[in-house]
Amino acid sequence: PLPQPFSVPLPIPSVLAPVASTADGDRYEMVQMETEAEIIPGRSTRLWTYNGTFPGPTIESRRGRHVTVAHRNELPVPTVVHLHGGRTPASSDGYPTDLVLPEGWTESASHGHGGHGMTDGLAVVTNVQREYGFPLDQRATMLWYHDHRMDFTAPAIWRGLAGLHFVRDDIEDALDLPRGDHELPLMIADRAFDADGQLAYPSLDPSLTGEIGVEEPFTAGVLGDVILVNGAPWPLHEVDTGLYRLRILNASNARHYELEAVTEEGRRLPLVQIGADQGLLSAPVRHERLPIAPAERYDLLLDFGDVPVGTKVRLANRLGSGRTADVMAFHVVREGTSMPIPESLADDLPEWDRSEAAVVRDIAFRAGRMNGRHGWLIDGLPFDPNRTDVTARLGDIEVWRLIADVHHPVHLHLVGFRVLARGNGEPLPHDAGLKDTIALRPGESAEIITRFDGYRGRYLFHCHNAEHEDMGMMANLEIV
Ligand code: C2O
Ligand code: CU
Repeated sequence: PLPQPFSVPLPIPSVLAPVASTADGDRYEMVQMETEAEIIPGRSTRLWTYNGTFPGPTIESRRGRHVTVAHRNELPVPTVVHLHGGRTPASSDGYPTDLVLPEGWTESASHGHGGHGMTDGLAVVTNVQREYGFPLDQRATMLWYHDHRMDFTAPAIWRGLAGLHFVRDDIEDALDLPRGDHELPLMIADRAFDADGQLAYPSLDPSLTGEIGVEEPFTAGVLGDVILVNGAPWPLHEVDTGLYRLRILNASNARHYELEAVTEEGRRLPLVQIGADQGLLSAPVRHERLPIAPAERYDLLLDFGDVPVGTKVRLANRLGSGRTADVMAFHVVREGTSMPIPESLADDLPEWDRSEAAVVRDIAFRAGRMNGRHGWLIDGLPFDPNRTDVTARLGDIEVWRLIADVHHPVHLHLVGFRVLARGNGEPLPHDAGLKDTIALRPGESAEIITRFDGYRGRYLFHCHNAEHEDMGMMANLEIV
């Protein structure tokens, strides 16, 4: 018995308090644990969580202030935490074999049968606890943390291992943007439930220790028919007639959305984009609708100024049908104070020119075979932790031409990039700003440009359709 859309209040994930703070950093602790939560009213759903909640607790941090997060793994399988969009030294980036083992696990028990195996030279953690260090010397934005274990990322995220992490800076503070309860984090994720209210996921091995991947009909990606926002199905949030800042993440494994805000009379409110995955744009971009692929984030302003009190505004999904055409709704319940939308935003966006590129690479994302099954490949190969796929020199600017057969949201670790082109044309309006994930459309090629700045070491790039990622579509990026 699923709830009526817009009957459950929107939860706001709680902000985690540091356990210790110094002049230049904060230390946090998280426990990864199994828990039960009421997602479908009247039902109890088993989840894998950070600190007992889904989404996990939010971390609020400031640019350049060092964050340490000590994670303790009380789940029945190994885990790896990755801070998505973080400019993180490789040792804390959550490489997929850099495991936090549960109590009682031995190194060999963590191999799985995925055909990759654990090999010499890879970091193996033998503790149930490990510390991740984040310098966070990066632009203000909303990052997210999630599990990244090799071969089993998709089912682990599906079970609940995801949370938000904000970075703030002076540039953002200097702008007059909605704050406090007028800034809403919205983690959108679809899920499927079985008749008992448990999460349904077509794993070949539900223990997540053996055979990798999903049953054949789901190899394109696992979709759910229930749309959760901050862990609640089609929630409703009461707002005033003021200006709201929506910090939206698509944390779905495979579902793409095309968002629009529509009043009950069918009037569309503009979605004013002020930021992308990697922070503020230089100037706002207005959209009627906005496509969002897995792992992408948008920073939006939504003005309820001319919406009569008493009206509901649906955040709808144009790509959905029936229940998946709704995401959530805002109920305008009182007068608020209006605020102007700033005409210019951040002036610290990197501008790189194609002519500066040290290398131009073509990289293809296509279906193929892996371990005798359907798989997803990058340049014809499935992920192998023992192979270096791309070697980039620290400080170099590179242009990557990404080529796709079907939809692939391609994500690079460590760096933000600009979109230079789609096909032979210009980028799309929503490609504005600094990104870390680009949604390649079927049959499309796109060009991105970045500077490999930050740290040397072994990083990744991969498709963020989490099923594609688990079924091979990931590669090593070595920065030297
Ligand atoms: Cu959202 Cu490689 O990660
Ligand atoms: Cu893909």
